[in-house]
Amino acid sequence: MLSAKMIERLNKQVALEHYSAHLYLAMSAWCDHNGLAGSAAFLKAHSDEELAHGRKLFDYINETGALAVIGAIDAPPIQYGSLKEVIEKTFEHEKLITRSINELVDAALSEKDFSTFNFLQWYVGEQHEEERLFMSILDLFSIMQPEGRDLYLIDREIGSKLAR
Ligand code: FEO
Repeated sequence: MLSAKMIERLNKQVALEHYSAHLYLAMSAWCDHNGLAGSAAFLKAHSDEELAHGRKLFDYINETGALAVIGAIDAPPIQYGSLKEVIEKTFEHEKLITRSINELVDAALSEKDFSTFNFLQWYVGEQHEEERLFMSILDLFSIMQPEGRDLYLIDREIGSKLAR
């Protein structure tokens, strides 16, 4: 059984994962609007992944007999200056999610809520992968010029990461 504080924390994470889904979907729209089809497809698929992260938490909360709540979700930004800025923001956002997951893990351990602690280990591993993925995309901008033909190649490379 979850403590009231833990239910609140987990529900906040559900909202954060949904915000992530909306953020990446908005970024996908910006990319599509600016002729960056590879990045648009990648970010749209990643938005779906974030929904799955939220759903997994939602199911866990309900399985314990607590009530999962879909809270208010802020509208994400829709304007970006460049693809590089979009990717920098995804990486910053993933680091924020990692901090949030780490705080949840810490709270579960402090409460001796070992079931939630165990459940959250999946997210710990997932955040490692997510940060690595977005960092590898960011690296593309340090080896290529974010304009002209290189921008086309960067966009194509981002699109190729869809299934990884
Ligand atoms: Fe659900 Fe990209 O973290």
